[in-house]
Amino acid sequence: MRPVLRTLSLSLLIGAAGAAAAAIGEGPVLPGASAAPPPTSFSRQVLPILEQRCVVCHSPSGVGYKAIGLDLRSYEGVMAGSIYGVAVIPRHPELSPLIAVIQKNRASFKNLKMPPLGKLLSPAETDMIGRWIAEGAKDN
Ligand code: HEC
Repeated sequence: MRPVLRTLSLSLLIGAAGAAAAAIGEGPVLPGASAAPPPTSFSRQVLPILEQRCVVCHSPSGVGYKAIGLDLRSYEGVMAGSIYGVAVIPRHPELSPLIAVIQKNRASFKNLKMPPLGKLLSPAETDMIGRWIAEGAKDN
């Protein structure tokens, strides 16, 4: 009786593990899931957001560049920051001005909100930029 039971519960366990693995494989990849998601790409995932929502002001002819010298057209520009200092602190989204100003609760950094007018970035876009910084803010 015992061995049969043991075999049964073992196969149940294996079955459950298999089902869990299948669920992870098929489901959406959640941040923080144990299966490591691919790293966030600056050029493919972050830069397009900046180009769409920020570059109109944060490029040489725009007010955001003229006021503080922050150029968001490229990796080099993002990492160079502004006359006030860095905008991105690799591995620390919670300390990075770039994140502070785009969050919904934006009073955290000089009361600046970016973009100053119009729609906020979506939570997905904000998370994407935060993940990129958390992963080391690489030129990838
Ligand atoms: C309508 C123009 C405009 C748009 C669009 C805009 N910005 Fe700005 N941004 C500014 C101006 C002007 C300042 C300077 C404000 C000040 O210092 O008083 C600024 C300041 C900043 C700062 C503060 C830098 C520092 O160290 O003080 C960051 C970070 C920033 N912007 C990021 C962004 C991001 C990210 C986006 C896109 C989501 C964006 N901005 C969109 C105009 C803009």
